Amino acid sequence: MRRDIVHVGAGNLTYEIREIVVVGRDLANLGVEMTWENIGDPVQKGEAPPGWIREIVHDLLDEPNSWAYCDTAGVPETREFLAARVNQRDGGVRITAADILFFNGLGDAVSKVYGQLRREARVLGPSPAYSTHSSAESASSGYKHLTYDLDPHNGWMPDLDDIRMKVKYNDSIAGILLLTPDNPTGAVYPRALLEEIAEIARQHDCFIITDEIYAHIVFDGSHLHASEWVGDVPAIAMRGISKEYPWPGSRCGWIEVLNRDRDENFSRYCASLLAAKRLEVSSTTLPQMSIPRVMGDSRYLPHLLRREQLFDRRADEAVAAFADCDSVVANKPGGAFYFTVMLKDGVLNDRQTLAIENRAVRERIEKMVAGVAPDKRFVYYLMGATGIVVVPLTGFQSDHHGFRITLLESDDAKRAWILRTLRESIDTYVAS
Ligand SMILES: Cc1ncc(COP(=O)(O)O)c(C=O)c1O
Repeated sequence: MRRDIVHVGAGNLTYEIREIVVVGRDLANLGVEMTWENIGDPVQKGEAPPGWIREIVHDLLDEPNSWAYCDTAGVPETREFLAARVNQRDGGVRITAADILFFNGLGDAVSKVYGQLRREARVLGPSPAYSTHSSAESASSGYKHLTYDLDPHNGWMPDLDDIRMKVKYNDSIAGILLLTPDNPTGAVYPRALLEEIAEIARQHDCFIITDEIYAHIVFDGSHLHASEWVGDVPAIAMRGISKEYPWPGSRCGWIEVLNRDRDENFSRYCASLLAAKRLEVSSTTLPQMSIPRVMGDSRYLPHLLRREQLFDRRADEAVAAFADCDSVVANKPGGAFYFTVMLKDGVLNDRQTLAIENRAVRERIEKMVAGVAPDKRFVYYLMGATGIVVVPLTGFQSDHHGFRITLLESDDAKRAWILRTLRESIDTYVAS
């Protein structure tokens, strides 16, 4: 090309969760039976959305409107419904339907939210990071994503001093990102901690992005929303139905803008999000139309509760599988459906292996592990030896080593096998 046509941030677009699939498919072609523990899709892992939710969706198919485009910002009645739900919360920030903007899944919202930011305005996010956010921020700024630490020795809670110092001494930081419940750690932040983060943002005139896609999968049943803890700080809360109906294929997620009018610059930025969206119409009409019917149904809350109890039990099983394992830190998640196993510092080296019987697979793995991060090396051996595909923790922009699995396997015997095999593999690998 006579001009370099590659965006300055293109190299920053990485997504280990799916990149590992390419390796897994390769191994499958060599005859390994794979167990996919990398993607957070409950439906793919065997969970059928409840019959009554599917009936609502069926009925909507008979309404011609559900086949049409809808307003750029989304279906007005649904936005009214969602705004009313925010406003029902005691003492929280009030919003209107105009503060709600639908996207083609939160993945799309994330890319637009960072894509519309001025390049020099950075958003500080957690490490371990969820790649959709960290890659989008990094790609739009053209620099490595700036992060604060989540502390594995404190239940993966954010290190508030780290946030405070970074925000104070780096004035390019305009926003603070957090995810609660978090992906990949499953940590749920207590209200007091969230209020402290909001206070840091307020003191330094920053805004907050809070990804709350798992807000209704919290094991103690508390469904805290940003509107209840941000106070007067401008914020964007992100929500969706992918994980809670669950309906990831609906591509239906939205943002709620809080305290838009508290800051003129934030308000103009939010207007630019809508303007950018106007370049296309909204088309997830049917899933959007389903939201008031599903979330307004008396069966919805019991549905959420049942799932919370289910994942809570599975989280207990996962923690039990790693009990007394000196090589790892395995914190019980408080929500979502992920489980992160951290391998302690110094446990991994580049000589450890797992036995792989199939020669072609062994040779492929031995070639692949050259020069990779120590946890990725373990993940590759694990894949070759057992077929289990997990995501290395360093793939989440983390200095800690380890891996993330899901709690989604719905076959009880298979889930027990996965946990047992992971534990045995760690023990064998570390001792090898
Ligand atoms: C924390 C988080 N945010 C956003 C998304 C994207 O969700 P959606 O299916 O709405 O694009 C995911 C998907 O796994 C996620 O884990």
